[in-house]
Amino acid sequence: MSKMTKIQFPENFLWGAASAAYQIEGAWNLEGKGESIWDEFVKTPGNTFKDTTGEIAVDHYHRFKEDIQLMAEQGLKAYRFSISWSRVFPDGAGKVNDQGLAFYDELIRELLHYHIEPIVTLYHWDLPLALQKKYGGWLSKEIVTDFTNYAELLFKRYNKQVRYWVTINEQNVFIPAGYSLAEHPPGEKNDKHMYLANHHVNLANASMIQLFKKLDIEGKIGPSFAYTPIYYGNPNPENVLEQHKKQLLNNNFWLDVYVYGRYPVYAKKMLESQGLFPDISTEDYQLLQSAKPDFIGVNYYRSSTIIKAEDPQQSVTTVRVKNEFLERTDWDWDIDSTGLSISLLEMYTQYNLPIFITENGLGAYDVLTESFKIHDSYRINYLASHMLAINEAIDLGVEVLGYTAWSFTDLLSWLNGYQKRYGFVYVDRDEYSGSLNRFKKDSYYWYKKIMETNGQSLYEKQEK
Ligand code: BG6
Repeated sequence: MSKMTKIQFPENFLWGAASAAYQIEGAWNLEGKGESIWDEFVKTPGNTFKDTTGEIAVDHYHRFKEDIQLMAEQGLKAYRFSISWSRVFPDGAGKVNDQGLAFYDELIRELLHYHIEPIVTLYHWDLPLALQKKYGGWLSKEIVTDFTNYAELLFKRYNKQVRYWVTINEQNVFIPAGYSLAEHPPGEKNDKHMYLANHHVNLANASMIQLFKKLDIEGKIGPSFAYTPIYYGNPNPENVLEQHKKQLLNNNFWLDVYVYGRYPVYAKKMLESQGLFPDISTEDYQLLQSAKPDFIGVNYYRSSTIIKAEDPQQSVTTVRVKNEFLERTDWDWDIDSTGLSISLLEMYTQYNLPIFITENGLGAYDVLTESFKIHDSYRINYLASHMLAINEAIDLGVEVLGYTAWSFTDLLSWLNGYQKRYGFVYVDRDEYSGSLNRFKKDSYYWYKKIMETNGQSLYEKQEK
C-alpha cells in the first residue's frame, strides 16, 4: 500500500475473530450430542496428524464464558462460530437435543451481553454421522430437506439475536478434500461423486437462503468461500489460457452458482465431456437462481502460482510453483497480502456483492515463554499487511462489511493437530494433553488497539 492511502474502514466495521465447533468445543459425546463424520474419521490411525482428535479440543464447551470474557476484554465487535448440527439434531433430523440447543442459547446470550455481534456458521464440515450412514450424506438429495429443516429451527430460534449467517464454510475445500483427495471424511477418491455431492451442497445452500428470505429473517446471509487468486508463472499466452481455465474451475465454479445460479460454461462443458457433470433438473436450476446471497464470505490465506504442466497425460494441466516474490509460512503457504486486494477487487467486480472477510490468519509454531508470554510479531506483521490490503480494496471501492480473523483462541487444525496455532489467545495443550489454560499473545494486545481505533493504529505499523 502506498504510504499516502488513508486508513478508512467504514464506521461500524465488524472487527472480530472466528472459530468452528469441531475445532474448539470438545464435549464430542456429551449431553446428548450425536457423532459427526469427523468424530468417526479421526478414529482411524493415520487420518490426522499424530492421530489428533477434537474430543476435548480446547474445551470451549465448558470454558465459553472465560473465552467470551477474553473477547470482551479485547474489544471484539463480532465473533464468528459454527453450530454443530449433530449437537442440535443427534441423528441429523427428527428429535432435537434440548441440551445442545441450550448451549448455543447461552453462548449467544453471553455474546450479546458484551455487545459482541454473533455470526453463525450453519455448516463447518461436521455432518451428522447418522445421515452419512442413512443415505450417504451429501451424495443424496435427501440431505437438502434435512439441512433446510435444521436451518429453519436455528433461523426461528435466533432471529433478531443473530444478524449474520454463514450458510456453508468452504465448500470448495471440504468437497474436493472429502471426495477426490480422501483427506477429509468420507475419504473418497471418486470425482463423479465429488461433483454430485457438490451439486447437493449448492442446492442446500440455495434452499437455506430461499427459506431465510421467505421467513423474513432479519439480517444477512451468505456462504463463506476460500478464495485463492491464481497467478501464472509464465506469460506465454498458452500458459495464460491454462490459468484462465483453472480460475474457472476453481473460484468461479462455485461463486457463479452462488450468485447467478449457473455453472461457468467452460467448466460445465469440460466436465460433461469427461462424464463428470451431474444430471441437473430444471427445478434444480430454478432453486439455484432463486436464492442470491446478501454477501460473500471470503476466507483468505494465500495465493497460488501455476504454470502449464509438461505431462500431456495429466488431466490437470497446471502445476503449482514457487513464487519468487513471496515468503512462505512454516507450512509453506505463500504469504501474499496484495493477493487479498486482488481477490477483493476481482470478486467485487465480478459479483457486485458486499464482502465479509470471514477468515484470515497465520498458522505458526508459537512459543510460550517461562513468564507465560507469546511474542508473535510474525503474526502481527501478517495481519497488519492483510488489513492494509483490505483498506486498499476499500479505497478502490470494494464494500467490505467486516473482518473475523482466524482464530480467537488456538484450536485444532483439522489435519495439522494443535501445533499449528492461529489464535490471539494461546491455549496450553499439545497433541496429547495440557492444562488448557489461556494466555494472551502479543497479537491480542495489538489487535485490541486496531479495533479501538477502527484501524487507525495501522499507521503506527506503517511508519515504523
Ligand atoms: C480454513 C478452514 O480452511 O482454514 C478452517 O475454514 C481452518 O477451519 C483454516 O482451520 C486453516 O487451515 P489449517 O489447515 O491451517 O488448519
